[in-house]
Amino acid sequence: MPRDILVTSALPYANGSIHIGHLVEYIQTDIWVRFQRLRGENCLYVGADDAHGTPIMLKARDEGIEPEDLIARFAAEHKRDFDDFGISFDNYHSTHSPENRELAEHIYRNLDAAGHIERRVISQAYDPVKGMFLPDRFIRGECPRCGAADQYGDACEACGATYQPTDLKNPVSVLSGATPEERESEHYFFRLGDFETFLRDWTASEHLQEAVSRKLGEWFEAGLKDWDISRDAPYFGFRIPETEDKYFYVWLDAPIGYMASFRNLCERRDDLDFDRFWAPDSDAEVHHFIGKDIVYFHALFWPAMLSGAGFRTPTAIHAHGFLTVNGEKMSKSRGTFIRARTYLDHLPAEYLRYYFAAKLSAGVEDLDLNLDDFIARVNSDLVGKYVNIASRCAGFVTKRFGGEIGDTLDRPELFERFAAAGEEIADLYERRQFAQAMRRIMALADEANAYVAEREPWVLAKREGTEAELQAICASALTAFAQLTVYLKPVLPATAAAAERFLNSGTLTWDDARQPLTGGRIEKFKPLLHRVDPDAVEAMLAASREDLAAKAAPQANQDTDMDTIAIDDFAKIDLRVARIARAEHVEGADKLLRLTLDVGELGEKQVFAGIKAAYDPAGLEGRLTVMVANLAPRKMRFGVSEGMVLAAGGDAGGPYLLAPDAGAEPGMRVK
Ligand code: 2FM
Ligand code: ZN
Repeated sequence: MPRDILVTSALPYANGSIHIGHLVEYIQTDIWVRFQRLRGENCLYVGADDAHGTPIMLKARDEGIEPEDLIARFAAEHKRDFDDFGISFDNYHSTHSPENRELAEHIYRNLDAAGHIERRVISQAYDPVKGMFLPDRFIRGECPRCGAADQYGDACEACGATYQPTDLKNPVSVLSGATPEERESEHYFFRLGDFETFLRDWTASEHLQEAVSRKLGEWFEAGLKDWDISRDAPYFGFRIPETEDKYFYVWLDAPIGYMASFRNLCERRDDLDFDRFWAPDSDAEVHHFIGKDIVYFHALFWPAMLSGAGFRTPTAIHAHGFLTVNGEKMSKSRGTFIRARTYLDHLPAEYLRYYFAAKLSAGVEDLDLNLDDFIARVNSDLVGKYVNIASRCAGFVTKRFGGEIGDTLDRPELFERFAAAGEEIADLYERRQFAQAMRRIMALADEANAYVAEREPWVLAKREGTEAELQAICASALTAFAQLTVYLKPVLPATAAAAERFLNSGTLTWDDARQPLTGGRIEKFKPLLHRVDPDAVEAMLAASREDLAAKAAPQANQDTDMDTIAIDDFAKIDLRVARIARAEHVEGADKLLRLTLDVGELGEKQVFAGIKAAYDPAGLEGRLTVMVANLAPRKMRFGVSEGMVLAAGGDAGGPYLLAPDAGAEPGMRVK
């Protein structure tokens, strides 16, 4: 009997594009799923957009659209990206769906009825200007431990301290700049501690990787805390039943989205039964692939919620590490924060699929995309080893034998050895040891190439009376190629499909690696993969830098490195000493003064500066200051502004115009 296997990848937020960091996970999951299907298992893969939460609500507000419109736009973009990377979802849904609402309410009600939900009044930061409670990430202030300025409400990036937002000194709302107030509100908590015995047992067994189990051990030591599952209005999400203005926190209904997507699929497929997979006694398998940063949600809250609400718990949670590019965190300024679409604009999806496969293990270690290695690996393994086997023999078969492969293998032992390797490779795929699987497959490709080199069909082809031998050699080589195609098929679905057309093999399954190719007919060979063009890689990096320029401000719940810029970015700013030649009031402007600046070799520039509140124009004339000289001219209501003068200031006062020490000359560069 085939296994029933339901597989998920983490649900991407519906307010940002898919990037290559996300793709590690989708590609890893998809390879595993395709492998299972190739083996004949009943393997279903579902996904969805994670559509709720404050950042999504605020982004829609910023754009002046409804959250529903925003999430529809990202859903369409995400689906297209996944399709074009060959991610073979059986269903792609949304957490903002009727199925998810129903399941979330059902799970909540069951947990509540069993006494696992507690209501408690808590005090929280509230933005009086925006009229809303503030998530931790939307409050900044000074670290209570080390005093570092401009730190998030939950943790200090300078000293690593973690704390409550109420501990921050001089906190401000990121949304309005206002000082948050403390306000009380009733919140709903999931009593995780009720599940301690169950979870200790569950997390210690084979559901988790060892490193993850160990990490959880630390969390048990620290004590399982109640989990705040409610948020006050305004919020984009599902309202909690029997409340007016309380919503489920996005992380409550996100994992339920896995079930909801599957339920939606079941509604369309007669052969699938929801309960068959989710009933407490189900012997179907449920596998979640996730990043190591969201283990807490998946390995503690999720199994506890499921078991408390009367559902089965996951078979396994497979966590992976993060992606670095050229050994560093993905960086917008270096162009290594590469969106899925930008990659696809320059390179074929299968190259990245192969490269990630060649680097992925079953562990939680980070994985590096080294772009030089990427080029070398794809060229040497896929083009130089795998495709090469077919390209060295196909021509003879087409020209000499009308495409007929013939009935005889020149070296049956080669075929036997390749067939025998199938179970070992399958075991590596099953255990998500993809890097090892790729190494084993490439070792076979080396063997096949060595065989062709030894038999030198091109030498035989020049001799009389060697027809049968030549054909049998090609049959052996093409059989080896077909076997490798099967083994690579989970990783390279599109290439395998092209190879199937070339071989006239029909759709290959795993067991076909135990059949020689004899008796068939091949089509004329067309190169299946081309060498990576290093210029395409460069162009992709350049386009990723451009993406950055075109992109709006970062999202609070997306990974960005916007807190730092590279030295090259700083070097783009042309800062100059300027002498204020004239300063005038601007009619009709409350805050602006018109400054005519003498910038030495750059001549005179007109700048409108918002400094009227602090300066009398007459007193400014003749003063030195610092300006951004290469800012693109901006047309304002009162005229064109050709730069910007620098001034300090904020809530505490100002503006204070910056000035160099005496001796500086107009036009000097500021570095
Ligand atoms: O971390 C994230 O990007 C979340 N959107 C993942 C959710 S996974 C699941 F629980 F839905
Ligand atoms: Zn600190």
